[in-house]
Amino acid sequence: MPSQVQHDLLPTRTHDEGARQDYYMEIRRHLAVNVAGGNRAVYSNIVKPAFLRSHGREPKDRSEVRTEMTRQGYYQMYSAMQRHTQEMTWDSVIDSVERDLPRLTAQAKQKMANAKGTLTLDPAFKAPGYLTFYDIHLQPGGYHTTLADDDVASGALYDRATYMYSMGNLGPKTDYFGSSLLAHFKARFPHITPKRILDMGCTIGHSTLPWKEAFPEAEVYGIDVGESVLRYAHARAETMGVPVHFSQQNAERTNFADGFFDVVLSHIMMHETSTPAVPRIFAESRRVLREGGVMMHLDNPRLVGLPPFDAFLAEWEVHNNNEKFGGTYREMDIVVEAENVGFVKGKATLEYVALVVPARIMNYSTKGIQFPCLVGEK
Ligand SMILES: C[S@@+](CC[C@H](N)C(=O)[O-])C[C@H]1O[C@@H](n2cnc3c(N)ncnc32)[C@H](O)[C@@H]1O
Repeated sequence: MPSQVQHDLLPTRTHDEGARQDYYMEIRRHLAVNVAGGNRAVYSNIVKPAFLRSHGREPKDRSEVRTEMTRQGYYQMYSAMQRHTQEMTWDSVIDSVERDLPRLTAQAKQKMANAKGTLTLDPAFKAPGYLTFYDIHLQPGGYHTTLADDDVASGALYDRATYMYSMGNLGPKTDYFGSSLLAHFKARFPHITPKRILDMGCTIGHSTLPWKEAFPEAEVYGIDVGESVLRYAHARAETMGVPVHFSQQNAERTNFADGFFDVVLSHIMMHETSTPAVPRIFAESRRVLREGGVMMHLDNPRLVGLPPFDAFLAEWEVHNNNEKFGGTYREMDIVVEAENVGFVKGKATLEYVALVVPARIMNYSTKGIQFPCLVGEK
């Protein structure tokens, strides 16, 4: 597996910090490779036969599977280890961020002083409640917390920790969601050379940068809710020589003019929003698209159609990792939601995007996994 690219904004690691971080990434890999599969054996050999005996049928949905599996010692051990590893991933990176913060802050200032891209923050901005009422996926402070005027801490924490979370499966720059969606876009819409691209929920720009690299003439915009993550995104993009325009905005209602963009995207954002937010974001995507423009919202695998046991395992994050909306979004009929906000029937489709480099290990998931993407043509 390639190492993470050590750019100037990434927190450095002392020997001990590195050892601890590597340990938690290895535990994570061990759980995915050697432990997660045992849950299936527990289900097939113990839980399902017992359920059949007592109910005269198999569990009908993931909720019934969960009720039974959460009583099993094996699953309890697996789940507790997963949760602990997630907590310790953040915890182990916080040490590096706190130690390295003066250097990171100075680096960010220097990069921003000579920037080709821009950063627009809104001091009056209020992040939506679905992102602030708990620490989403257990990240201390979530995406929105800002500790100081020139803060980059949340962004630095996110950069290292998401590499660990993905076990390096998203590449040395954690950008495979971006490059994979880009490859799908190029194959689907070879006739479009976008002049303006919007990436909603860009966090620190991991997935945004491949779009600017692929279309250097285009103006590429990234929006998110957090001041610290956006400042980090801006400085990181400048460090990598890929200028992007970042701004603090809610994807439900932005300040871009009607028809401003050729392409509007999101990578793994939608499942962290809410039921009322989804149609608003689709409507906003449509509003800011020009006629003939394209919307693409890529997200985690659907739960609909999965066998109950697989759906149960696939929604571990919903119950244990503060991603409460993750289950609902992955069941919503998002094509109908898109049609409801004005996408013409047949012009909104659910498509499947393969990672450019297939993940060798995904958490409790299958090889060759494909990521569903709502594609809408205006
Ligand atoms: C899992 S992260 C996405 C990561 C990023 N797109 C990538 O591919 O690396 C989800 C992001 O969506 C942002 N987000 C969620 N709802 C949003 C909204 N209504 N407006 C703007 N950003 C939002 C969160 O703040 C968070 O940074």
